[in-house]
Amino acid sequence: MKILILGSGGREHAMGKKLLQDSPAIKLYFYPGNGGTNHIGINIKFDDIDNNNIIDNICSFVKINNIDLTVVGSETFLFYGIVNRFKHFGLPILGPNLYSFQLEGDRLFAKSFMNKYGIRTPKYHSFSSYIDAFNFIKTTTYPLVIKTNGIAEGKGVIIINNKIEAEQALHSIMIDKKFGKSGEKIIIEEKLIGKESSIISILNSKQIIPFLSAMDYKKIGEAETGHNTGGMGSISPNPYMTKDIWRDFQKHILAPTVEGLFAENLMFSGFIYFGLMITPSNKIYLLEYNTRMGDPETQSLLPIMNSNFLQILRDAMLKTNIRVFWKNLCSCCVVLSSKGYPNEYKTGHIIQGINLLKEPFFIAGAKQEYNKWITVGGRVLNLVGLGKSIYEARINTYNKVKQIVFKNCYFRKDIGLL
Ligand code: GLY
Repeated sequence: MKILILGSGGREHAMGKKLLQDSPAIKLYFYPGNGGTNHIGINIKFDDIDNNNIIDNICSFVKINNIDLTVVGSETFLFYGIVNRFKHFGLPILGPNLYSFQLEGDRLFAKSFMNKYGIRTPKYHSFSSYIDAFNFIKTTTYPLVIKTNGIAEGKGVIIINNKIEAEQALHSIMIDKKFGKSGEKIIIEEKLIGKESSIISILNSKQIIPFLSAMDYKKIGEAETGHNTGGMGSISPNPYMTKDIWRDFQKHILAPTVEGLFAENLMFSGFIYFGLMITPSNKIYLLEYNTRMGDPETQSLLPIMNSNFLQILRDAMLKTNIRVFWKNLCSCCVVLSSKGYPNEYKTGHIIQGINLLKEPFFIAGAKQEYNKWITVGGRVLNLVGLGKSIYEARINTYNKVKQIVFKNCYFRKDIGLL
């Protein structure tokens, strides 16, 4: 069986490693892949790298090479309508078409969907006029969150503490157009406080089957300070997802989401990710949907999955019942990054210690050149430790961190500290 995974991060390396571990006979392909994925499969290269042609190139590759299943890791491919193209040619792919992708790619669409189906979400107002938004921020209460309507490559979510910050954010989004077209419409949302939780789930066009919960550490600085990043670490399961909170999630978020997906013809086979907030009053709120697996949550989840991942993907594709089992273990993932990320950073530094690392670990922005590993990206490596508790898992992870050395290495020291 031949499988193509689309994306270039630690998430895609983790998906590939898990598939190969469960089903050693499969052949893996990645586009574009990274310095880790080419050790477990083939990184495809196209001469023509114009974004408009990438989807056609991938379709041709899949047809010519008889790829049995394509799995989308990164949202970029969904944004360019890969699922619509694949379906047009009758090629098997897991992921939402452009209509269903609005749940992730169009924040206003998602918020209206949530409201229509009674899905618990923070209150919000939307604006397409700078003047209207400006008048609103003069009289509202703080803190709040300003979001661009489009996903703006994972950016476009700004936490605002006062009127001055709100004025600056509005100016940069709607006048300076810092986020381009994605900022033509904005959402101003109530800022909830509490504990964040991520629930990645698989859909088989009939049901949503949630995975174990996870927690993503999004900020560059310890204690969730500083800039937003693609994720600096994750743990699973999320210790704040108690039985009562799970029940609350099922009642106020999961069940009405399923109802809405059917009613609006949005149901698909693939992944749906619930970005959640648990408030001090023990209520769970939905902040956002993604229509793919999360990074770096995938890196802490897949090492403790006890089911055959290929079987799960096949069941999703064939619309048959899915059962997912988990090891009785906790997991902690720490992201080693290049100092300066998510802003400017230097690459090309030699990384020592990768060859001696024990599984699980995943490559993100690193590659091998003449037998040496070097840094090539902002997020370089994902190191994962397992244990009977989050405490034990984090000790095992940070022991792995000590084995890796590269110039200007930065990582958060508080991943898994509760
Ligand atoms: N961890 C959040 C995301 O993948 O978007």
